[in-house]
Amino acid sequence: MGYSYIMPVIHTKGKTIQLTTTFDTMKVLVATEKPFAKVAVDGIRKVTEEAGYTLALLEKYTSKQQLLDAVADADALIIRSDVVDAEVLDAAKQLKIVVRAGAGYDNIDLNAATGHNVVAMNTPGQNSNAVAELALGLMVYAVRNFYNGASGAELMGKTLGIHAFGNVGRNVARIAKGFGMNVIAYDAYCPDEAMTAAGVTPVHSAEELYKQADIVSLHIPATAETKGSINKKLLNLMPKGAILVNTARKEVINEDELVQLMTERTDFKYVTDIMPACDVKMRELFADRYFSTPKKMGAQTAEANINAGIAAAKQIVDYLKNGNTRFQVNK
Ligand code: 3PG
Repeated sequence: MGYSYIMPVIHTKGKTIQLTTTFDTMKVLVATEKPFAKVAVDGIRKVTEEAGYTLALLEKYTSKQQLLDAVADADALIIRSDVVDAEVLDAAKQLKIVVRAGAGYDNIDLNAATGHNVVAMNTPGQNSNAVAELALGLMVYAVRNFYNGASGAELMGKTLGIHAFGNVGRNVARIAKGFGMNVIAYDAYCPDEAMTAAGVTPVHSAEELYKQADIVSLHIPATAETKGSINKKLLNLMPKGAILVNTARKEVINEDELVQLMTERTDFKYVTDIMPACDVKMRELFADRYFSTPKKMGAQTAEANINAGIAAAKQIVDYLKNGNTRFQVNK
């Protein structure tokens, strides 16, 4: 796999890549422990086959070895939260590009990808409405006491604090405004004007956000800077009856301190789409104030799968044929 009869070479940002031709037999592997909807896979197949490539599928795999075996002859790889580390890259001898069909790429070892001369990309924005809708769904579920029949509360008139105003945060703001919420946001990297244009009030520190918000919705990526940053001190600033919604990453939470806080503050609720390591303990201690989906499902809609999966396939073709590195994240 992966050879050409004609192999033109281009140089881009210090890297040398082979441009492909219609004679190529490039193999694109979709490796998804959590599979896309079939309609999305059909779309990915169409894009890859129209480019003259072959498509292979590894879905619902249960061991890393299956992934290591499957990547051996892949020229391009489409993944979701699947981990692509140095071991996977070592096994993927033909690999030229890996595309994370989604936003967060903390599951790819970027340095190892660069070291293996593999381009890593994401597909920003393609699944963000799906994640945002789930965030609002979790909010409704929490204010209605997990649908236990007891009188709850409404979202209208409550202050929602959006922590990070990227693609998902913006969609959350749009939907929350439809609910009649007062939306504020904090994002050190986003200009105030972008927030005000969206009808959102900017605040200028995380502390200010947590002080003012009845509900905080997390949309920060998991980075060295953010891991464990959502801690007791910050959460304790939230007013009585506070709700924390996490559709981002579990790693950003300081779980020990969250347990401490929820032990001390019996008014505090935590709803998440990413099961914490301390899930069993949380369920035992806070049965009526804690909920986690069994498997991350924010982006698990046909629409998001189609958008992100087909974008990933198109980015692969555009890179292999034209050298387009627009969405590269390991520059
Ligand atoms: C993302 O980063 O795009 C979301 O967390 C969705 O992840 P998933 O594709 O594993 O559902």
